[in-house]
Amino acid sequence: MIEIKNIKKIFGDRTILDDISAVMEAGKCNLIIGTSGSGKTVLTKCMVGLFRPEEGEIHYDNKDMLQMNNDDRKLLRQQIGMLFQGTALFDSMTVEQNVLFPLDMFTNWSVAEKRKRVNEVLDRVNLKDAHKRYPSEISGGMKKRVGIARAIVLNPKYLFCDEPNSGLDPQTSLVIDKLIKEITVEFNITTIVVTHDMNSVMEIGDHIVYLHQGRKQWEGSNKDIIFSKDELLNKFIFASEFLQDAKEMRMMEMNGLNKKSL
Ligand SMILES: Nc1ncnc2c1ncn2[C@@H]1O[C@H](COP(=O)(O)OP(=O)(O)O)[C@@H](O)[C@H]1O
Ligand SMILES: [Mg+2]
Repeated sequence: MIEIKNIKKIFGDRTILDDISAVMEAGKCNLIIGTSGSGKTVLTKCMVGLFRPEEGEIHYDNKDMLQMNNDDRKLLRQQIGMLFQGTALFDSMTVEQNVLFPLDMFTNWSVAEKRKRVNEVLDRVNLKDAHKRYPSEISGGMKKRVGIARAIVLNPKYLFCDEPNSGLDPQTSLVIDKLIKEITVEFNITTIVVTHDMNSVMEIGDHIVYLHQGRKQWEGSNKDIIFSKDELLNKFIFASEFLQDAKEMRMMEMNGLNKKSL
């Protein structure tokens, strides 16, 4: 479990994150949602240690990352896998070399062991025939798979995915979402997915944290969303009238009513 407490992040004279407390549940798909600019990426970068917040605590299994010594923090960082916004593959490296990179950086394994692990994770994300190709030669969905393979190659306890669906069509987005969810369950990872994709929220969101203008506006499960009366959350999730109607129908259904009986 990751628990963040009273996080405050300031850039210049702007408070970007203001007093954010939330929980990321162990072994679950936790989603951080919100409009563009609400602070999702800055919050995740604080959580993985790329930014240092001005105030607050970030507990990984009850140990505050911000109070750890360098050695402990390094160890923790090795348990964190990250799929960056825009994937951030190395363009001059093949798919295989991209996935091998963290193993070269952080392990003393033999070439054979590393090759075996690379093949394992590429198989897991269903990328069998792309090992020797370069990022420019594969589709957007395949690039995300390579990013996921690279993020899990060191067997992380925690996995962060920033906008894994950006630039993908709805169908490919769903495949990537399902893959992230499967991996979370299969390897018992505490996963954090940043998204503004309504489909992802309903499909894979076990636990959801909604940010609005740098503050936590709402936190709960995807089932709670159906019943939530938070106006900002409803406006964000059910942006169209069609979805607003669908939400009301679903609420009635879950209350044991249907349209005919009204
Ligand atoms: N390195 C930075 N320096 C200054 N401001 C930043 C930096 N990174 C992000 N911001 C600002 O913080 C706010 C939140 O950004 P971000 O977390 O990227 O939003 P999003 O929810 O779209 O991921 C934005 O107003 C952005 O301009
Ligand atoms: Mg972002």
